[in-house]
Amino acid sequence: MDGNGRWAESKGLPRVAGHKQGAETFRKIAYYCRDIGLDYLTVYAFSTENWKRDKLEVNAILRLLEDYLEEAAEKMSQEGIRLKAIGDLDPLSKRAKALIAKTEVLSAGLSGFQVNLCVNYGGRGELVRAAKLSSETGRDVADCLDTAGIPDPDLLIRAGGEKRLSNFLLWQCAYTELYFTDKFWPDFTDADVDEAIAEFNCRSRRFGGL
Ligand code: FPP
Repeated sequence: MDGNGRWAESKGLPRVAGHKQGAETFRKIAYYCRDIGLDYLTVYAFSTENWKRDKLEVNAILRLLEDYLEEAAEKMSQEGIRLKAIGDLDPLSKRAKALIAKTEVLSAGLSGFQVNLCVNYGGRGELVRAAKLSSETGRDVADCLDTAGIPDPDLLIRAGGEKRLSNFLLWQCAYTELYFTDKFWPDFTDADVDEAIAEFNCRSRRFGGL
């Protein structure tokens, strides 16, 4: 969900206004992905590197996440959206951890569309944790990742013009189709999802085969 800060700056607004609008866009896109029949939507909401930002900005992003979790806990059963938090959740606030626990209990009683929220997430850190767990338990690395049991992403969409993974799902994206758009995340629309899926449908996926 890149480009929130630049979206705000281009309008003479504080960066935090971009994240607020970005959270609204996320809500809209999540409903759309559910409605078109996708199984999973995974969003990179806060990376392990994002702590380097100004404290005000960090707090604002984490607050937006907590607000979303609170709203989701109330509405997820009617809306049919399951939630899972992915990342190192230990350093999060008590409120965030309690809301994550609550939404995961509620999600266990639902089926269908699932949103994965990557929070305090970094692909390298996840791999180190998974390798440790795998060596302790003998389980496959994939089963020790935060995403255990979730299929690898088919399509990765990065808004905001940058063309890199930025430590996102490094293991899981081995054969994911990558799609980049210059649009800032707050401007991203349902039609942009359609466009990315149309392009995805033109790709030839060989997974290393012929
Ligand atoms: C990247 O844009 C975006 C983030 C680091 C934060 C994303 C968080 C939200 C949209 C709000 C909370 C999320 C949910 C799911 C409710 P950037 O700040 O790096 O933008 P820039 O590259 O233009 O500076």
